[in-house]
Amino acid sequence: MSTIQPPSETIWWKQPLDRVEFTWILIALTWSIIMFIMMPLWHVYGKQNLSNEAYRTTPAAFMKKAQAMVDEYTVRTETDQKIPVVHPPPGSDVYLVARLWSWWPLLELEKDQTYRLHISSMDWQHGFSLQPVNINTQIVPGYEMVLTVTPDTDIDQTIICNEFCGIGHHNMVGKIYVTEAGQ
Ligand code: CUA
Repeated sequence: MSTIQPPSETIWWKQPLDRVEFTWILIALTWSIIMFIMMPLWHVYGKQNLSNEAYRTTPAAFMKKAQAMVDEYTVRTETDQKIPVVHPPPGSDVYLVARLWSWWPLLELEKDQTYRLHISSMDWQHGFSLQPVNINTQIVPGYEMVLTVTPDTDIDQTIICNEFCGIGHHNMVGKIYVTEAGQ
């Protein structure tokens, strides 16, 4: 039998199972069950898979809320492009806009304080990846993802896009400055 010719025995599912084939099926099945159990376990015992919520929105409606937060809580701007750095009060709703190719605005959050972080995309699919804590979620237009976050690092956190979104994908970098509480 060759791979070019059709199999001589066309009713292949009535053929006896080879021992090697059976072994591989068993390995794959066992591994998939382990992964299946690990998913909820990681959620409970790990830090990567956060509880999140998703709501329908539109780019315009989301932008309006983000703009209102930026207007109220901007503490300074950075670079020649005057990118706002926003310091919202602890416990508040924080809005982060994903678009080609930036995360807007830059955020300044207080250590060990909890915020509701809303993220949505203005255009295409992006991936929110928070380093070094390794929190990942997909960001799609028309949906508002809400993560409950409590910054607990002593260093600033970097947001990178982990969903390929075109020529400027590698430049799509954002920032969460982590400050001591009350500052
Ligand atoms: Cu946005 Cu890659």
